[in-house]
Formats: sequence, C-alpha cells, structure tokens
Amino acid sequence: MKRKVTKAIFPVAGLGTRFLPATKSIPKEIMTLVDRPLIQYAIDEARAAGIKEFIFVTSRGKSALEDYFDAAPVVEAELRRKGKKDLLELLKMTNMESGAIAYIRQQKALGLGHAVWCARRLIADEPFAVILPDDVIASEKPCLQQMMEAYAETGGNMVAAMEVPADKASSYGVLDIREDMGALVSVSGMVEKPKAHEAPSNLAVIGRYILTPRIMDNLNKKKSGAAGEIQLTDAIATEIAAANNVYGFRFRGQRFDCGSKAGFLQATVAFGLARDDLHDEFAAFLHEMVSVRKAAE
Ligand code: G1P
Repeated sequence: MKRKVTKAIFPVAGLGTRFLPATKSIPKEIMTLVDRPLIQYAIDEARAAGIKEFIFVTSRGKSALEDYFDAAPVVEAELRRKGKKDLLELLKMTNMESGAIAYIRQQKALGLGHAVWCARRLIADEPFAVILPDDVIASEKPCLQQMMEAYAETGGNMVAAMEVPADKASSYGVLDIREDMGALVSVSGMVEKPKAHEAPSNLAVIGRYILTPRIMDNLNKKKSGAAGEIQLTDAIATEIAAANNVYGFRFRGQRFDCGSKAGFLQATVAFGLARDDLHDEFAAFLHEMVSVRKAAE
C-alpha cells in the first residue's frame, strides 16, 4: 500500500540576492503578493494537499519567517479590543498547530539537494513533498493536490512539469520522456540545467515534488552536480536506474517564477486581478496604463 504523504519540506535558505536591496533585511519568502507573503501561498497549497507537518529549511536572517507563523498577542489583543473580527479571522491562516512546524538551518549554501537532505531526520522513512515557494501556481485545484491524486495511482517519485520555450530549458531541471501518457509522463532521465543543445526535451521540472525516502539515501552520497552544488534532480534521476519509478506530471494551472522580478510582477498582476475586492479598480487602471502607452507610441 502507498503511504500517505503528510510531511512537506520548504527550502527557504536562499539569500534572495536577485531582490536586493529588499532582501537585505527581509527574507524573500516574506515578500508580498497582493497582501500575503509568498510563503503563505505555499503553505495553503500544502494544507490543501493533506500535509500535516511543515519543515522549513532556513538560514541566518530568516527569523521573520518564524515570527510569521507564531501567535501575535499584541496585534491580536488590539484587534479584539477594536472588535475587528474580520481581521482576526484573516490572521487564522497563519495559525500553526504546536509541533506542526519545524525549522532546520542549512549552514552552508550547498544546493537544493543539500537543503532537502538537511531535513532527513524529520522525514525518516516516509514519503514526503517538497515545495519551492518561488514557484507560485495559480490553479483551480492546487498543484500539489493534483499531484497527490495522480500519485495515488502511481506511487514512486513525482515532479511537477511544464513545457518551456526551448531556449529557456537550460534554466531548469529537464525531463527525458520514456512514455508520454498525457498529464502523466514516465521519465527515463533527468538533467539539471542542461546546456542549450543538450536538453533532452523542453519539459521542465517546476518546484513541486513527491518523493520516496530513498531520495534521502541518494542525497547522503553528497555528490555535487550542476554549478558544483548537490542537486535534488540528480538524486531523483538515480532512482530511474534503480527503481524506474519517476514520473513527471503536467499540472493544470499557471506558474509564476517569483524568483525573478518580471515573474513576481506578473504574479502580482494576475493575483490582483483575481481578487474580487480589487478587480474592477485594478483592471481599469491597467487598461488606462496600456492605452496611455499605446497612445505615446
Ligand atoms: C530548481 C531546481 C530545478 C527546477 C527549478 C524550478 O532550480 O533545481 O530543477 O527546474 O527549481 O523552479 P532553481 O530555480 O532553484 O535554480
């Protein structure tokens, strides 16, 4: 029987240098899309997929993340005094049951694979999910939930996948396709950040994974790969030869690369427009901006 996946790792140790100076004093994951920090979107998605234990792999300077998921007695007392029930209600999304959240520090930036490996003792011998909060996915059914449903059939290791333009493939982990079954793809190889002419396809790995505990054993070998870092992609690829149980899953939804400035701005526009309370005013503004620009051309 396939074991239920109830643990998720959130690698959040990165310095976020692409967003300096903002990230000089705040973690990238606390930057806000409309009115919620990036990390809230990742947590909501994990919860919807049935995750009960949340493991953050952090680093120095990330304490704002821990505070975000803690009680805020001063703000809460003030809201209660003023009778602001709606805001108190809103704060509930940041509540974490005691013991449901754990923080582990990655002391050296040795790569995504290493960050995941740092959580090995908490994962023990269970399957687990990994969510990269930089990849924000707008969809009717949350991406990880879609994957859990597919995983209920396949078991094994599953990565979210998306077609990218061929000239962008070298920014991703890329899948070599053995059998294409539509949403599901069986994988015969995986390459992290291939050179332009060496990409086996243009089906790229997006930051959602469901993995077997064997991935931790593979990471134990600490083999460095692309960019001299310990790569999660390599640890998963090892399972293809060993167990032939790696799948790509083409999720339904729109993915935003919130690790880049352009992607973050696009996500802000998309999520802003999707909000009932903001849509009309924001859409009118965007329309005006575009027409003014067109008129100037
Ligand atoms: C990481 C993974 C890569 C994946 C990407 C998705 O790369 O290593 O395989 O395609 O996330 O966002 P990063 O973007 O952290 O360099």
